[in-house]
Amino acid sequence: MNRPSTPRILTGIRASGQLHIGNYLAAVKPAIARQSEGELFLFIADLHALTTVKDSKRLQEATYDVIATYVAAGLDHEKHALYLQSSIPAVTELAWYLSCVTGVGFLEKGHAYKDALAASREVNHGVLYYPVLMAADIMLYDADIVPVGKDQVQHIEMARDMAGSFNAVFGDVLKAPTASVQESVMTIRGLDGRKMSKSYDNTIPIFCESGMLRKKVMSIKTDSTPLDEPKSMKNTLVGELFELFGTPEEWEDLEQRLQSGGLGWGHAKDELFQVIDREIAAPRERYLSYRADEPFLRAVIATGAERARVVADGVLNRVRDAIGVLPS
Ligand code: TRP
Repeated sequence: MNRPSTPRILTGIRASGQLHIGNYLAAVKPAIARQSEGELFLFIADLHALTTVKDSKRLQEATYDVIATYVAAGLDHEKHALYLQSSIPAVTELAWYLSCVTGVGFLEKGHAYKDALAASREVNHGVLYYPVLMAADIMLYDADIVPVGKDQVQHIEMARDMAGSFNAVFGDVLKAPTASVQESVMTIRGLDGRKMSKSYDNTIPIFCESGMLRKKVMSIKTDSTPLDEPKSMKNTLVGELFELFGTPEEWEDLEQRLQSGGLGWGHAKDELFQVIDREIAAPRERYLSYRADEPFLRAVIATGAERARVVADGVLNRVRDAIGVLPS
């Protein structure tokens, strides 16, 4: 098996709508922070998005949004590969090979599949097959480390199992990946206190304009402790978000003032808005200018895809050879 000398760190992000600060903190920022640790392979999972997105315009917009977000957040796209999942069709071929060593019963244990069934959402075959395609996303590139949110850990374990089943039949061909979970930002709560998610309509879009950001932050649910009574940010959403965007000193300072009474939640939320806006302002400017330049964004992913294709071709040849599929 060819193994890269520096670790290959790979992760995907679904292109299903405007990114929110939950995505930014749990997926985008941690991925960017790893640029110095190895070779990044970041892709936009546009094929995966199709299990739910059935609107071509929305898929295109969401895809551009994600590319622009990564570049604005500081991804060095000349050094690392940013590409579309669909640009390397070999991934669907590998998924098929994996599918032929994977039991239906095994896939029926997938959380996402079970949730969709329980919620009586549309359960198309893509929902059941999702973990197989995801395993192919990872194994097609001999990825070493896969940074993901906690909700994706089962998928990585399933990918490891599929690598095991494949290798048991065909030899030591596929590299089993290791998940890397960012514990501190595992689940970002949304405006209503539930997990931040587009499906709950409780998100704070990451690069919306300042006025909208302020409006969203001000709409965070807080308790109705009267203005002059002491309050604490501990175990509140305001406190959690403040911790992620403000410095520890700023957190302490605000907490002190809240505890002394006389400071309302409205004021605390306004300060929260300020610290979020401070971090977001510069990337938002960059985002808006990149987002307006679609030819540039396409050039970025074309370069990324070229890089990814070289690795994918090598792995696919190895796999075909092990299976007995003749070279074309
Ligand atoms: N399923 C992931 C999510 O919804 C996105 C994804 C697709 C992914 N393929 C992947 C993540 C491969 C890591 C590795 O967030």
